[in-house]
Amino acid sequence: MTDKLAILGGTPVKETPFPGYNTITDNEINAAVEVMKTGILSGYVANPGPEFLGGKWTLELEEEFKKLFNCKYAISVNSATSGLHAALAAAGVGPGDEVIVSPYSMSASATAAIMCGGTPVFVDIEPDTFCLQVEHVMAAITPRTKAIMAVNIFGLPADLTSLRKVADQNNLILVEDNAQAPAAKCAGSWTGTIGDMGIFSLNRHKTMQCGEGGVVITNDKTLAKRLRMVRNHGETVLPEWGDELRGHEDIVGYNYRLTEVQAAIAKPQVQRLHELNDHRIKLADYLSTQLQEIDFLSSPKIREDCTHVYYLYPMIFHPDKINISRDRFIEAMKAEGMPVSNYVRPLYHIPLYTNKCGNHPSYDPSKNPVVEKLWKETMIVTPICHPPLSKEDIDLFVNAIKKIASSSEML
Ligand SMILES: Cc1ncc(COP(=O)(O)O)c(C=O)c1O
Repeated sequence: MTDKLAILGGTPVKETPFPGYNTITDNEINAAVEVMKTGILSGYVANPGPEFLGGKWTLELEEEFKKLFNCKYAISVNSATSGLHAALAAAGVGPGDEVIVSPYSMSASATAAIMCGGTPVFVDIEPDTFCLQVEHVMAAITPRTKAIMAVNIFGLPADLTSLRKVADQNNLILVEDNAQAPAAKCAGSWTGTIGDMGIFSLNRHKTMQCGEGGVVITNDKTLAKRLRMVRNHGETVLPEWGDELRGHEDIVGYNYRLTEVQAAIAKPQVQRLHELNDHRIKLADYLSTQLQEIDFLSSPKIREDCTHVYYLYPMIFHPDKINISRDRFIEAMKAEGMPVSNYVRPLYHIPLYTNKCGNHPSYDPSKNPVVEKLWKETMIVTPICHPPLSKEDIDLFVNAIKKIASSSEML
């Protein structure tokens, strides 16, 4: 390695790409083959019989979730996006209703409200945890508010204890978008179990994956029933199951069904979730220790009485401590072969909101200064703690940071 920065023509710290994210083992492969051999690739039929609830493997996957998170109901779906929509639909969100949500998340956290005909209301976030700021949530509640969508972003629980209280005091549904924080803990409880419903993603990038998929967990029998109706054309079973489903004639069903192959692949991943999280936590702790020497980057804060499971590792860049901008630093890191980027554009910048949702006052960027600053100047995220990466890879990452810091005057 020479000291000349790669962005200026020097040799990169890492000359070949890091190995791609892959947690698929023989267990997942064998399970998929077993399903393929049966020829029954989906267990669902939208009629009033046992197949309304899915097949052998989807039911087994749901059992795994119930066991792992000690909850009464688990409803598998074909993505977390479907799960978020199903959750709000099950909660009865409809036209005229508002859902309070973080603007600093993946698009579906907010579009779920639009899919129900409701309005996402954005509130600014905490500057050090990047989750909903509870005081702002309280100030945003109106008679139209129906639900709070708390996103456990990057792997850290939102302030779920406070949000639970706010939801209870105001008769609101609390939904946890837990796509990024499976098996994180908050005040002794698993994320996903503090909200009325918790939504998990099984997409290809997530800690547990089967390509595409999702699961909604809840302890509420009525919500579970409504979730299953949204998942599988629930209106079709109403004439026969009228007594059981009375009062739920408002539900429009979709096809949000997970296939048997996906469920079979997901099951061993769920059984390995703690092991998969431990890998990330070990590397993240190691990186946080190394970053103590670097004054222009802060390691992630962990909320008191919570654990972080590092779907991504977020760092705050301090432009006042180094003579280059965040964006230039990211370019220089990428040139050194390091996986770093900004996180998402605040959601209210997407034209959909201004065009479709009445341009709600909360879409004004000046109302969201914390998110704006993170987006424009200070946030950096990295997947460097994912399996199969190792401590040696973290060392390379830190070497790249130090290399850039020591030659930053050249940039
Ligand atoms: C916070 C969050 N919510 C929802 C989703 C949507 O997940 P899926 O791709 O399973 O629909 C994602 C996926 O990136 C996410 O990160």
